[in-house]
Amino acid sequence: MKIVKTIVELNQLRDSLFGSIGFVPTMGALHDGHLSLIQESNKSCEHTIVSIFVNPNQFAPNEDFDNYPRTINSDLEKLSSLNIEVIFLPESQELYPESYKNIQFKSDLFHVLEGISRPIFFKGVCEVVARLFNIVKPTHAFFGDKDFQQLRIISEMVRELKYDINIIPCKTIREQNGLAMSSRNEYLTKDERNKAKIVFETLQYGLKLIKSGEKKLGEIYNKLINKLSSEPIITIDYLTIVDYDTLKEFDNRINNRFVIFIAIYIRKTRLIDNIYE
Ligand code: PAF
Repeated sequence: MKIVKTIVELNQLRDSLFGSIGFVPTMGALHDGHLSLIQESNKSCEHTIVSIFVNPNQFAPNEDFDNYPRTINSDLEKLSSLNIEVIFLPESQELYPESYKNIQFKSDLFHVLEGISRPIFFKGVCEVVARLFNIVKPTHAFFGDKDFQQLRIISEMVRELKYDINIIPCKTIREQNGLAMSSRNEYLTKDERNKAKIVFETLQYGLKLIKSGEKKLGEIYNKLINKLSSEPIITIDYLTIVDYDTLKEFDNRINNRFVIFIAIYIRKTRLIDNIYE
């Protein structure tokens, strides 16, 4: 496991690797969700490269960039037991020197769901992921299903910009109570983490309702919002049911494969999750 901070060092190592290269980009504060992406990469690729970079461009000024958990020592310890060829730990100036021109990729998907509450988020994600793809030159890249919209947008970017990279979706890893693993769970107290399980319970309830034949959106929203708001520490940002393919909200009835998305706040901590079949 080699740890490198510069593009020059990364290039040297990359040039010595042949065969399939799995890439797992992260912002650190690693949990079992990240580790499962790395395990997937190990299973399907000959080499795995992991990056840790808290990308300033995907945080709005009112968001948690400064407080985002930075736990590099424990991250490296977790990674040491996995089969990783290279860990790339760039500084901001390394990835974004003044002369660097960001990609101009845009998508309609930037402006729905997460994009409404976080208008600059996906632009920032695409910029950093494209930059990392250009440097790492992976054959495969692994992303978690918890960030379903991110995964969709990156797949679209890869198609449109003609990257020769297989984007591999990986299932959401959950804590024992069902709460989706997230680095932001670190901000929650034990009691809050326990109460946050209502997010997944609400998603499961929604799936069950729809599978049992309820298709009227209004009815479903009422029931799900009632359930989610029965936990007083939760403030709902959105609870939306959209078409699986287009990520557009249905009109009145669910008439196609669907995904239920939830975004909530517990105090200032924002959590997201989704469910589909
Ligand atoms: O999902 C994340 O952790 C980040 O959005 C990513 C893909 C590493 C880009 O900074």
